[in-house]
Amino acid sequence: MNRTKAEQVFRSYTDNYDSSDVKIKLKIDHTFRVAEIADRIAEGIGADRDFAWLSGLLHDIGRFEQVKRYGTFYDAVSIDHAELSADILFKDGLFAEFEKALFSDVSSDENIFLNEDKKKLLETVIRLHNKLAVPDGLDEETLMYTRILRDADKADIFRVLTEPPYDGRNERIINDGEPASDKIMELVKERRCVPRGITETEFESLVSHCCMAFELEYKVSRNIVAKQGYLDVLMNLDVKNDTVRDQLKTVRDEMQKCWAEAVR
Ligand SMILES: [Fe+2]
Repeated sequence: MNRTKAEQVFRSYTDNYDSSDVKIKLKIDHTFRVAEIADRIAEGIGADRDFAWLSGLLHDIGRFEQVKRYGTFYDAVSIDHAELSADILFKDGLFAEFEKALFSDVSSDENIFLNEDKKKLLETVIRLHNKLAVPDGLDEETLMYTRILRDADKADIFRVLTEPPYDGRNERIINDGEPASDKIMELVKERRCVPRGITETEFESLVSHCCMAFELEYKVSRNIVAKQGYLDVLMNLDVKNDTVRDQLKTVRDEMQKCWAEAVR
């Protein structure tokens, strides 16, 4: 699979959007990192690295159209960006462009992606990457690549949350963060992801972001996140309020137990 050519198709697609807009640039950088992390997770668990890498490259392609149409990445007030990504690729036909590039230098019988099942798999994995939970009843292969992509996406989100504009949020939490509600802390103790829309303060939003790490599916993903260190930065903010400090400690303690008990 020709990754360089696939990246060129990606870049020529995103050239249609304004890359001087920080939002656009953020998503371009995020895309390449997620592709790379997905590749590493696939390598670690013995999955098809090219397929995982490609799912990362394409998973957020709808983000550019989302921000152009609605001026926001907030799905709740605009559109489900995972569905939009899959629609642009597989309904509007953008995937055909990638397909040509991916296999421009191999003979057609080496071409695994021309297989309809693989295309369907890629489409499903992209549609599921942002859902709160993975639905029941998926076959093993779909489940595995969905998990890889979701883990890779989460792993890069922790980086994003330590950089501008989120560094400003972290600074505000350090100085004036208010304690999270009991409801949010219950979810922490249950080691669950916090549903979107129930967080009311910046600290609650930070806690909800940290909680995503409860649901990292693979040990290799957890190792990548641990090595990156961004989650640690978030869970160790030097907050001034004592209750907030205790709550962050609870998040760290639960994370440690959760990761120690994980089965995969
Ligand atoms: Fe996404």
